[in-house]
Amino acid sequence: MTKLGVGVIGAGSIGIRAALAHLSLEDVQHRVHLAAVCDAVPGRAQAAAERFGVAAGYDSLEELLADPNVDLVTIGTPIGLHFDQGLAAIRAGKHVHFNKTMSITADEATTLIDEAAAHGVKINASPGNMVRPVNRAIRDLVRSGEIGKVAWAAVGAGFGNYHENEDVRSGNDLLSNVNPSWYWKKPGGGPMYDMTVYGLHTLTGILGSAKRVTAMSGISVPTREFKGEPFQTEMDDNTFLLVDFGDSVYAFVYGAAHGLIEAEWGQPNIYGSRGTLLGTKLNGNPVAHVGSDDPRPHSAQGRHAVGEHLNLEEIHVYEDIMQLIDLVQTGTPLYGTAEHARHVIEIFEAGYRAAETGQTQTLTTTFEDVA
Ligand SMILES: NC(=O)c1ccc[n+]([C@@H]2O[C@H](COP(=O)([O-])OP(=O)(O)OC[C@H]3O[C@@H](n4cnc5c(N)ncnc54)[C@H](O)[C@@H]3O)[C@@H](O)[C@H]2O)c1
Repeated sequence: MTKLGVGVIGAGSIGIRAALAHLSLEDVQHRVHLAAVCDAVPGRAQAAAERFGVAAGYDSLEELLADPNVDLVTIGTPIGLHFDQGLAAIRAGKHVHFNKTMSITADEATTLIDEAAAHGVKINASPGNMVRPVNRAIRDLVRSGEIGKVAWAAVGAGFGNYHENEDVRSGNDLLSNVNPSWYWKKPGGGPMYDMTVYGLHTLTGILGSAKRVTAMSGISVPTREFKGEPFQTEMDDNTFLLVDFGDSVYAFVYGAAHGLIEAEWGQPNIYGSRGTLLGTKLNGNPVAHVGSDDPRPHSAQGRHAVGEHLNLEEIHVYEDIMQLIDLVQTGTPLYGTAEHARHVIEIFEAGYRAAETGQTQTLTTTFEDVA
C-alpha cells in the first residue's frame, strides 16, 4: 500500500482538532504522512507544522497544491471558500475531503463531482453520518416498515454561542486566536451549512432523497461579539424548512439561532403509524446494530475511530478522512458519497430560495443508498 501525503488546508479549529491531531497519531503512520499545512494568516501554518510534525507549512493554498508530496487534501477553511479551493485541488490532481458542505449550490457540487471524475481523483464531504452502523440499522428498520407508515420527522440544530467559545479562539497565539466571524457572513455562514448538515445527512440517509422544500428564514441576532469586538450578522441565522419526501411524508428541518428540540445530536426523531424513533431509540429501546461486517475493531463512529482516537475531539471527521483514504488505497466504497452531500446542499439552497420567494421549490438531485 502506497502511503498518502496529506495536505491540511486551513489550520483553524477543525484543521487542528481533527486532521492534525488525529493524523499525527502513531497508528495511521503506515497509511499516511502529514506532508503540508497551509493557512492564510501569516505564520499560522508554520506554527501548526511545528506543533504536529508536518513536513511543510505554507502561507498560501497555491504553494501547498504545488507540493508534489501532497496526494490528498482535507479542506478546513470557511465554507464559502470550499468550492474554489476544492476545484483548484482537484485540478492539481489531489484527492479532496471537505470539512462539511463542499459548496453553496448544487450546481457547484456537480462541477466538483464531474471535475473529480475527469481528473481521476476521489472526493468526499463530512459529515458522513451513514458511516455509523446505527444509522444504517435505523434506515433498514424504517424501510422494512417496523414503525409503520412514516408520517413526519424533525431534525436540526441551534447555533447558540458554540463557535465564539471554542478553545482555539480563546487564546492569544496563532493557534488559539482563530476568529470565527465568517460563520455569520455570506457566502457559507449560518447554522444550516455548518450544523443542520449533520441531521439532514442522517435523515436523508434514512428516508432517501427528498422532493420539495418550503421555508422561512431570517436574522435573529443582528450583532455578535468576538474578543470584545462587535460584528454584524450578514447571513440568516434562523432558518426553518418543511421538506416533502413524497407519499405525504414531511420533515421539519431547522437551523436556529438558539435552542434545540430535545433530541440526540445529529439524529432525527421519526414518527410512524406503529412506532417512534427518538434519535437511536426505537419506542424507548436502543436500536440494535451490528458493529460492522469488518473484522477489525469498530466504534460507534466507524471502523477507524478506535483506540487513542477516542480520547481526541472530532472523531467523526477523522473517520470521514479515513473513509476517503480507504477508497483511494483499497477501493472500499464510501458510506458518505459526494452525491449524497450534493442533495443535502440542494435542500439548503432551495430552502433559502423558498424563503426569499415564498415559493415551494422542487428538488432535482438524488443519490443512491450505500449498503
Ligand atoms: N469548528 C468546529 O467545531 C467544526 C467542526 C466540524 C467541522 N467544521 C467545519 O470545518 C470548516 C472550518 O471551520 P473552522 O471552525 O475550523 O473554521 P476556523 O475559522 O476555525 O478556521 C479556518 C481557518 O482557515 C484559514 N483560512 C481562511 N482563508 C483561507 C485561505 N484562503 N487559505 C487558507 N486558509 C485560509 C483561517 O485563517 C483559519 O485559520 C467549516 O466548513 C466548518 O463547518 C468545524
